[in-house]
Amino acid sequence: MQALLVIILINAFIFILCALVALSGQFLRQSGEADLTVNKASMRPVRRGQSLLPALAEADVFLPAACGGKGTCGRCEVKVIAGGSAVTPMETILLSPQHLQALSRLACQVKIRQNIEIEVAESLLVAKLLRARLETSQNVAEDIKTLQFSVQGNAELAFKPGQYLQVFYQMPWERVLRAYSISSPASVKNGFSLDVQRVSGGVVSSYLHQLQTGAELEVSGPFGEMFLSDEHVQRPIILVAGGVGLAPLRSILEQLRELGFPQPVWLFHGARSRRNLYCEEYFRDLAGNNGSFSYLPALSNPLLEEGWVGSRGMIHELLEQQHFTDAAAAVAFVCGPTPMMQAVTKVLVAKGLASDRILTDPFDFS
Ligand SMILES: Cc1cc2nc3c(=O)[nH]c(=O)nc-3n(C[C@H](O)[C@H](O)[C@H](O)COP(=O)(O)OP(=O)(O)OC[C@H]3O[C@@H](n4cnc5c(N)ncnc54)[C@H](O)[C@@H]3O)c2cc1C
Ligand code: FES
Repeated sequence: MQALLVIILINAFIFILCALVALSGQFLRQSGEADLTVNKASMRPVRRGQSLLPALAEADVFLPAACGGKGTCGRCEVKVIAGGSAVTPMETILLSPQHLQALSRLACQVKIRQNIEIEVAESLLVAKLLRARLETSQNVAEDIKTLQFSVQGNAELAFKPGQYLQVFYQMPWERVLRAYSISSPASVKNGFSLDVQRVSGGVVSSYLHQLQTGAELEVSGPFGEMFLSDEHVQRPIILVAGGVGLAPLRSILEQLRELGFPQPVWLFHGARSRRNLYCEEYFRDLAGNNGSFSYLPALSNPLLEEGWVGSRGMIHELLEQQHFTDAAAAVAFVCGPTPMMQAVTKVLVAKGLASDRILTDPFDFS
């Protein structure tokens, strides 16, 4: 009996020893630093064990990451020439076999385990890190605040109307980032505004909602392919927003206002009730003073006490009723929840808009 107990104890000791050796091996592999090479240039060494996306940010390379690194947006694509970890299931969904064969990877899915060499498209290297100070925070609708920031130092923010920034937020165990569209005009370069909807249980939107004036935060950018170009300005423009999807369209609209509305512009804004609709008075005044600009809001569930006499229903239904004289020549910018964007796109295509002239930016990557 005693001998059996001794054998069991020896076996348990050997098992614990093996587990400790395995764990320490894992720790040693993951700890320490690795060399990072980007487009053949040596960057400062980065910590092993983390993902490539935050490692690149440490090395001042800021990639678009609309989903915040969840591996669902596919925007953080790079080429890993040497030293990448195994391809993840998310990458096999978002990257084609041809892309994977050509060494494409999603930076948020690659783990730094050893020295790593990557290639990043030059067009992605324009984004920079800025420090921003909160100047004002204003409730503009139920659960939506417009936050006005100034850019610190002598830095300037050059962006195209419609683009977004990535806000960094330090949690106790990791630094997370979220995308927020710039709602201010691109002509203002020493500051910017964000329209932020507080998401129930949301980490960064809740943080931004309770931010006090004078507080500073870090943002990177600008990012995004949905922006107003010189070519678009020559065309009739249809803007369609759902809720806080109005944010990037406000920036586009301001640019068009500064240009004196060279072509007809329609702004459709869908919200649940009047308390979710924002900038209503401003847009009504703007439409009243500019014959080329039309403002068309619609509420899906107006409250009795709001006395709403305007359009009711979903925003794509109001869009469907609208007659555009030259729809085929128009360009559309659509922003909001994915189901709304799908319904709107269908209506626009049916009205004769070429699908490559319907620009969208989904807010929800889950
Ligand atoms: C290109 C782009 C531009 C964006 N611009 C804006 C903007 O101008 N204003 C703005 O308010 N938001 C914008 N967003 C959404 C924003 O990036 C965040 O996803 C949102 O603020 C939630 O982040 P969170 O940290 O508060 O929530 P999280 O902590 O990430 O999520 C908490 C919970 O909320 C759910 N959730 C996450 N995002 C949303 C959402 N958008 N709607 C409903 N539920 C959600 C999650 O599934 C989770 O259950 C944009 C997103 C993208 C991709
Ligand atoms: S940040 Fe990598 S897929 Fe979205």
